[in-house]
Amino acid sequence: MEDPWQDAMDHAVALARKAGTLVRDAVQNDMKVMLKSTSVDLVTQTDQKVEKLIIESVAKKFPTHCFIGEESVAAGEACVLTDSPTWIIDPVDGTTNFVHGYPFVAVCIGFAVNKQLEFGVVYSCIEDKMYTGRKGKGAFCNGEALQVSDQRDITQSIVASEFGSTRDPEVMDKVFSTMRKVLCLPVHGLRGAGSAAINMCHVAAGSVEAYYETGIHCWDFAASAVIVSEAGGVLMDVEGGPMDLMSRRVVAANCQVIAERIVKEIDAFQPTRDDAAAQD
Ligand code: IPD
Ligand code: CA
Repeated sequence: MEDPWQDAMDHAVALARKAGTLVRDAVQNDMKVMLKSTSVDLVTQTDQKVEKLIIESVAKKFPTHCFIGEESVAAGEACVLTDSPTWIIDPVDGTTNFVHGYPFVAVCIGFAVNKQLEFGVVYSCIEDKMYTGRKGKGAFCNGEALQVSDQRDITQSIVASEFGSTRDPEVMDKVFSTMRKVLCLPVHGLRGAGSAAINMCHVAAGSVEAYYETGIHCWDFAASAVIVSEAGGVLMDVEGGPMDLMSRRVVAANCQVIAERIVKEIDAFQPTRDDAAAQD
């Protein structure tokens, strides 16, 4: 049967590559850094320009489709996931890396229909790695099939996480307490690429066994969630239930056992949901 979303996915890949070239070129230049929710939540004109480029191009080709884009939401657009075909866009995941020239920066495009993720494209543009995942059809990096690690023992694993975009002392206490517990399981190591999407692609590629974070947004992990599950991985909420795209929390792992083991160590908390305004 013909894939109804193949055209959309091909367009997403082409756009991610075009956007990624723009981002890569901009790393060399002087940039004006602006702040969003906190003094460590950065944005640049490149983030805004790339999101505009993607949305304008998709809207022209698929005029009935909807969008959730990081910078559009920052500018006041609603963050609502309906049953309509919806493009979930992070123009630059790893903006802090981008600002500092730290080489993990990704353009992320996720696509959902009936609130189910259909495909995800994550272009790690400085490394020139194009990660893709299509529901039921596998995950790939530059055309090579991805497969999660077959490790089942957390003490033989590397786990990824991040410090996030807030420095609220109460939140930091939970972040550090969880990291301490995970590290002392013990695990072989704790890593963080500075991009939620790239951390999750590392789970898909088998170079880390798991990634967890609270405080991310739907655009940070929608695209990479498809890539993880299509590479054979599992996704869940930090309290063990099913992954909820709007909840700002995720555990991505190579297998159920490791995901559940991490869940046991997490000091869970609930940041304001991405769709909070829509639920009021
Ligand atoms: C951030 C990155 C970072 C994660 C933050 C995200 P941004 O996304 O993914 O790794 O710790 O929670 O907000 O702001 O660079 O798109
Ligand atoms: Ca971003």
